[in-house]
Amino acid sequence: MAKILTGIQSTGTPHLGNMLGAIIPAIEMANSSKEESYLFIANMHSLTQIKDHTVLKENTFLTAATWLAFGLDPKKSCFFRQSDVPEVAELAWYLSCFFPYQRLKLAHSFKDKADNLKDVNSGLFSYPMLMSADILIYDANIVPVGKDQLQHLEMTRDVAARFNNLMGDTFVIPDAKIQDDTNYIIGTDGEKMSKSKSNIIDIFLDDKKLRKQIMKIKTQSLSLEEPKNPDQCNVFKLFKVIASAEDVKKLRSRYTNGGIGYGEAKEILYNEILNRFSTNRESFFELTNNRDKVENLLLEGAEKARKQAQNVLKRVRSRVGF
Ligand code: ADP
Ligand code: TRP
Repeated sequence: MAKILTGIQSTGTPHLGNMLGAIIPAIEMANSSKEESYLFIANMHSLTQIKDHTVLKENTFLTAATWLAFGLDPKKSCFFRQSDVPEVAELAWYLSCFFPYQRLKLAHSFKDKADNLKDVNSGLFSYPMLMSADILIYDANIVPVGKDQLQHLEMTRDVAARFNNLMGDTFVIPDAKIQDDTNYIIGTDGEKMSKSKSNIIDIFLDDKKLRKQIMKIKTQSLSLEEPKNPDQCNVFKLFKVIASAEDVKKLRSRYTNGGIGYGEAKEILYNEILNRFSTNRESFFELTNNRDKVENLLLEGAEKARKQAQNVLKRVRSRVGF
């Protein structure tokens, strides 16, 4: 049976783009697949960028609660926090002794980060070895990731093959499953929604704050009466990805006929978000008031994951002579 594994970044609050582009499809795949699946919150990776105890903890909680509120079934998928399986750090060390420094220096994501971040620490540099350990420690063979992670996957395959060649067959060589990112969700400024651009829509805000985010969406400045091209309007573009085909058709004709102002269109979008995500919002708010439930689910997941990790690590330790 194939094992599917993916790591979820927890450097910020999950946003509508993450939900529609990654979370919902990943949960549908995990819940409907017969394969074993592992989903973990990569909070050890987040430490490369976040040095605030409260923020790190809160981001991890928000990420976990978001996945659960979207219907992740912890009975079907092994759902846990990376830091609850410390074995992964030990494996990252072994792997780093089998991977050339010169190759790590070529990592695009490190170069990007080194050019843009103030804190360029060595954790950031050796990140691909921790990510390789994340994958190899569970004998995962299918790893769904965005295109930006492909090079990390190549490094994972490479380091596993180097280890296998030198020390004998030990690791399963994983395959990447690249997620399509051509139809990305736009943010309030019309660019790709991204937590680094402060253009996000966070559907788990309370009604008032959520409404404020929607009202921030950039629009043209045509008068109420004028006919408008819906495909050039950020409000309509967002409505289109969440509403039913019938409602999209109705709003489209209101745009083309004229007589709808941007304020009303935003109000319609806001109500649609409340409507479409009402169950998710309810279950998210319930989890926020029941943090122990999330904590216990993560610990249960980690217990299962850890057993698997310990088996693989035992194999590796014996190969290296420890
Ligand atoms: P961000 O760009 O906000 O930092 P991440 O890089 O953490 O987001 O992305 C996590 C997942 O969410 C990835 O699978 C990515 O493809 C998906 N994702 C992020 N932003 C969007 C978006 N605007 N539209 C669709 N999917 C997105
Ligand atoms: N680096 C990935 C990202 O930025 C997150 C991640 C960490 C991951 N470990 C992983 C993804 C292992 C897949 C497998 O999105």
